[in-house]
Amino acid sequence: MKRFIAVLLVAGFMAAGALVATAADKGQETVQYETKMGTVTFQHQAHQGRVADCTTCHHKGVETGKCNTCHGVDAAAPTQKDAFHKLCKDCHKDKGGPTGCKDCHKK
Ligand code: HEC
Ligand code: HEC
Ligand code: HEC
Ligand code: HEC
Repeated sequence: MKRFIAVLLVAGFMAAGALVATAADKGQETVQYETKMGTVTFQHQAHQGRVADCTTCHHKGVETGKCNTCHGVDAAAPTQKDAFHKLCKDCHKDKGGPTGCKDCHKK
């Protein structure tokens, strides 16, 4: 089966700070997911200003690490596709973010 690789892009000006992960680590500015439907660009830090609490997306704060250490691996966890679609689209329906496939998946 095909596996999709999450490409984590750290903007150049973030690179120095990203070398050391601390409790105050805000994570990547932008995260890109390459899918067969096209690339999804997630503005991680912009979302931190829109979403009150990190745990809306990170189960137990941020110490859980990369989502695909469990999603798509652990039988108890839904696939990353299903988990992300639910997480991202439910909020977007509520708060007015993109919900059309091509709004997120760009060729
Ligand atoms: C809010 C943004 C968003 C919207 C809207 C969205 N997706 Fe996704 N989609 C994602 C993200 C993020 C992933 C996870 C990519 C990964 O796991 O690497 C994903 C994963 C997928 C995958 C699995 C990866 C692959 O290459 O097969 C498919 C298929 C997919 N989406 C199809 C759709 C379709 C069809 C729609 C419209 C009905 C849609 N998506 C709408 C963000 C979105
Ligand atoms: C809207 C959802 C969302 C919110 C809110 C959010 N994050 Fe994230 N964060 C993500 C996603 C998605 C990733 C990428 C994880 C992946 O692809 O495995 C990520 C990645 C990270 C990473 C890097 C994790 C790693 O090991 O690569 C850190 C650190 C992080 N976030 C910190 C935070 C902090 C701190 C907050 C609150 C100020 C926050 N995040 C709020 C969704 C979110
Ligand atoms: C240590 C393992 C682990 C990690 C890491 C992890 N998850 Fe999960 N996740 C699970 C398990 C297990 C479930 C199913 C049980 C539950 O809902 O708690 C789940 C459920 C979810 C759900 C609910 C899906 C639904 O259909 O209700 C979302 C959304 C989600 N995870 C998002 C994320 C995101 C985003 C990340 C990365 C920032 C992440 N998870 C990292 C294990 C993990
Ligand atoms: C708890 C709410 C919430 C969650 C969860 C969330 N978003 Fe959003 N997102 C928003 C809002 C609100 C906007 C619209 C902001 C605006 O128009 O000013 C948005 C806008 C966007 C945009 C349009 C570009 C931009 O950043 O302005 C993309 C792409 C996007 N989100 C992707 C995602 C993906 C992928 C996920 C899941 C990993 C996700 N979002 C999870 C609230 C959320």
